[in-house]
Amino acid sequence: METGYAAVAITRLQDYCPPAYLIDSVALDVDIRDGVTTVTSSLSLRRNPVSPESTVMTFNGEGLTLRTLALDDVVLDSSRYRYENDLLTVQGLPATCTLTSVVDIEPENNTALEGLYQSNGMICTQCEAEGFRRITFFPDRPDVLARFTTTVRADKARYPLLLSNGNPVAWGDEKSHGEEGARHWVTWEDPFPKPCYLFALVAGDLACLEDTFVTVSGRKVALRLYAEHRDLDKLDHAMASLKNAMRWDEQTYGREYDLDIYMIVAVSHFNMGAMENKGLNIFNTSCVLAHPATTTDAGFQRVESVVAHEYFHNWSGNRVTCRDWFQLSLKEGFTVFRDQEFSADMHSAAVKRVEDVDFLVNHQFPEDQGPMAHAVRPEKYQKIDNFYTLTIYEKGAEIVRMQYHLLGAENFRKATDHYFEINDGKAVTCDDFVASMEAVSGYDLSQFKRWYSQAGTPILTVTDEYRDGQYHLRFRQHTPATPGQEQKQPLVIPIRLALLDEQGAPCALDAGGNGAAEGEQVVIMDQAEQTVSFNVPAGVTPSLLRGFSAPVVLDYDYSVDQLARLLAYDSDGYCRWNAAQRLYFAALDRLVTETDEADAEAAALVPVLEQVIARSDEDPAQAALLLSLPGEVALGDRHKPLNPASIHRAHSAMKKALGKALQSHWLSLSENLLATELSMDGRAMGRRQLRNLALDFLAAGEHPEAGRLAVELFELPLCMSEELGALRALVHHGLPGADQALTQFADRWQDEALVMDQWFAVQASVPGAHTVEQVSRLLEHPAFDWKTPNRVRALVGTFTNGNPSAFHAENGSGYQLFSAALSRLDAINPQVAARLANGAARLPVLEPGRKALLTERLAEVKKTASGNVVEVLGRILAS
Ligand code: PHE
Ligand code: ZN
Repeated sequence: METGYAAVAITRLQDYCPPAYLIDSVALDVDIRDGVTTVTSSLSLRRNPVSPESTVMTFNGEGLTLRTLALDDVVLDSSRYRYENDLLTVQGLPATCTLTSVVDIEPENNTALEGLYQSNGMICTQCEAEGFRRITFFPDRPDVLARFTTTVRADKARYPLLLSNGNPVAWGDEKSHGEEGARHWVTWEDPFPKPCYLFALVAGDLACLEDTFVTVSGRKVALRLYAEHRDLDKLDHAMASLKNAMRWDEQTYGREYDLDIYMIVAVSHFNMGAMENKGLNIFNTSCVLAHPATTTDAGFQRVESVVAHEYFHNWSGNRVTCRDWFQLSLKEGFTVFRDQEFSADMHSAAVKRVEDVDFLVNHQFPEDQGPMAHAVRPEKYQKIDNFYTLTIYEKGAEIVRMQYHLLGAENFRKATDHYFEINDGKAVTCDDFVASMEAVSGYDLSQFKRWYSQAGTPILTVTDEYRDGQYHLRFRQHTPATPGQEQKQPLVIPIRLALLDEQGAPCALDAGGNGAAEGEQVVIMDQAEQTVSFNVPAGVTPSLLRGFSAPVVLDYDYSVDQLARLLAYDSDGYCRWNAAQRLYFAALDRLVTETDEADAEAAALVPVLEQVIARSDEDPAQAALLLSLPGEVALGDRHKPLNPASIHRAHSAMKKALGKALQSHWLSLSENLLATELSMDGRAMGRRQLRNLALDFLAAGEHPEAGRLAVELFELPLCMSEELGALRALVHHGLPGADQALTQFADRWQDEALVMDQWFAVQASVPGAHTVEQVSRLLEHPAFDWKTPNRVRALVGTFTNGNPSAFHAENGSGYQLFSAALSRLDAINPQVAARLANGAARLPVLEPGRKALLTERLAEVKKTASGNVVEVLGRILAS
């Protein structure tokens, strides 16, 4: 097979070996010039005490042009070292020495956006996970922690700003070459030892929003947010979020910031959301810029949570880092849990929890059920970039959350204090995290740890009966096999529950410890099967898994009456939402086979939904969540073999029927929730969310007023959430004026990249096979750009992952578009391409016709794909 790429080796957890040499300090000199950047690095090496015999050390290096290599200032001749297959091996090393290398790299030609690259004229870095090896030779692994001193040199006019980690300690103009003052340099020193994946450098001409934060112990920290000059007015929200996050981490975890400067730089070309480099975060513009005119409410919330997430990494990730990449969830799962709790504290905790659970069950659960299923601490990988997954992040956060609840808030805080204290400055493992939990609480978490090593989502089956005057709940757990992991062990599953009587009031329960609130009990299940008995009157409705107390699929045969009762009376936000979802799913499932019954199904739902609408003013955001139909992707996952066309028919029939059955409500919500002045508080955001939802239903029900309302809103929006909500209603429902609105929108926002991303995404998500053609046309649009990941994700990603009836068009045209796009992108940016390739993960469950078409396409792409894409497609095709 001709791939043009070397075969990808497998890395295994069991093969972990400490490095032969440690690095105490690194002096980097990065000389940025047109076309080529020269990197000089001096590494102070010291033999690792655990390998006293070593005289050989290997360094990673990818695509580096080696100019010279010197040991203790003596140039090495080529017999002493070898540079091949991305590894530099140096022989005959003394116990301590300095290795100096000079290499050339070409940031201008770096479209993979790993290592040093160019974005809109600025030069910046991305090193996690293995990008540093594209800048210079280094043991590119997180367990080598070194002190970095970095000098950056560049043209003064084009790059007035030269940044790196830590504090600036010296600077000046370059005096050589007679062109005095044309070039300058700055030296930065980071006093904290760090792994090279946290290294960062930025050179550019940027605007800065500056503020200060006084830490709890009275230290003054300069906060500097950088962006392109045109975006200076979009940094206030990130700044406010950063200050809130800093205060919150002091109050909640006792964690204080440790450097004198904290910087964030916004970059237009970025593979992921953001990066927690020590003292110098680099962010995708989409996760830091926010302005009401250009950013939706969801965008505002995302900025707040990502700013907080990266800030929290300073302790959970940077001060205490990962021993190896198998431990990735050590920093990511914990930090996601921290940012989730932060957002919950800033706004409505109940709404935030439902949003997080919604995301987990609709995205991570499918990952667990597909070919990419893997444990939170995997055993092996080919490309670590492919393991920045929802399982590592979101399921990892749920595992930390369960430990939080098992220990209780007070012990959990003691445990994290212990963890930070004993591991500060070290590279550790998930076992070390759990060990701290056990050390302070005396809790035995040995069985609990299976959550880290076992892949797949457990199914919790619950049955109940009245017998001998008691109510018995019987729990059974079962985790289906996942690729490479056939046998599963019983997990520790905390089940928070309440029992509602026939009036919907909670029965008095014996709390029995485990942190249960009044009217609740927490059952800690640790066997395959367990029964718990209660002295309660007959006719109760079990409210199970309250707060989503464990990441499991709950299988309990609720009656419609029980669900209506939970939805109306349960005090737990998750259980109310889950009840609504179950009602919708039951109706939708029936419609997949009996399409004509939509009106009858909708009519049956009207009384319960009217109750939700009647109470919607209490918490508009929560009402919007309760009234949201599950999406076509989620519905499709319940029907195998998958035929996305019949799923789409059922879904749109239901939406239309609900649109009609509740039309007077949708109309009044659309009209009454219109704000007259702009507010960005949580309640105002909730009202806009609910109004956009109402408008969508109104249009789905073909109400004659829908078009007028949408156009009015579109013409005079107060903010982007309104403008985009209106545009989406017009375009998705093909209302009169839709085309004109699209043109107007593009004219208005052609210079705002993040808004134009939304413009592409709105069009890529119009349901129906005809959208394939529209997406093909948009790929040729002058504003489309293969080299900008945000743009590719907005168009191709939305089409693939958010529009099943188009992607899975029966004639295979969607697959053709997808596979061509995948190959094209792969040649530019393998990491982003591999993520896109995951969009084909439902291949194994497709009905035979589509399956054959897609298989053929994927096999073709795989022949010439990068290692990243080969790993993903290989897993999909093998399943
Ligand atoms: N570590 C980043 C985070 O905070 C994510 C990331 C991974 C960014 C790899 C870039 C590259 O989640
Ligand atoms: Zn992170």
